[in-house]
Amino acid sequence: MDVVELKSHPLVEHKLAILRDKNTGTKEFREIVSELATLLCYEAMKDAKLQEVEIETPIQKMKTKKINENNYAFVPILRAGTGMLDGIIRVVPNAKIGHIGMYRDEETFKPTVYFFKVPKDIDKREVLVLDPMLATGGSGIDAIELLKQKGVKRIKFLCIISAPEGIKAMQEKHPDVEIYTAAIDEKLNEKAYIVPGLGDAGDRIFGTK
Ligand code: PRP
Ligand code: URA
Repeated sequence: MDVVELKSHPLVEHKLAILRDKNTGTKEFREIVSELATLLCYEAMKDAKLQEVEIETPIQKMKTKKINENNYAFVPILRAGTGMLDGIIRVVPNAKIGHIGMYRDEETFKPTVYFFKVPKDIDKREVLVLDPMLATGGSGIDAIELLKQKGVKRIKFLCIISAPEGIKAMQEKHPDVEIYTAAIDEKLNEKAYIVPGLGDAGDRIFGTK
């Protein structure tokens, strides 16, 4: 399935340059993660179905169209994915939110799940999974597997920076999942960090290092 990269937009490239800079502080880092999440959400919801509604402007009645927000759920992967939530809620304010807690082992790079809580009717919704980083792909792949076990049929993965290795792994395991990313970087280093990347997204969002 498709990978949509937003980087060709000058404003996205500009924001990414600030985000990647090691001298950018927590406040600005959080703000830009949130802004880029909004842009990714716009792009990922380009195919959203519209329903006809009748409203009244101050001038007259008119027929127009709206999205049914109940058709969607957003699922951040903890911790770093929660940094994208503000930007999503800004544009889809009635979104139902699930959470999947995962951390990567520092030696094996394999993810461990420590929390899973999603809306009861998640199998009836399209789910947009949020995580700023798609590195080896292990966390995203396992998160999507858990959602599929709950019966979710339509899933999109929204990330800010991705590595070619993670995209390949995701496409092999979940060929039905579309990936929306602000940038596709060069590679992973020996510690499975994205190069050039932006470092540890969770630590930079929460100021833990
Ligand atoms: C980071 C990131 C992803 C994962 C990506 O989280 O937010 O979830 O690593 O790596 P992968 O594609 O190789 O699985 P981390 O495990 O560091 O946890 P954190 O969000 O709590 O910092
Ligand atoms: N997780 C991060 O936060 N950054 C990376 O580069 C890879 C995984």
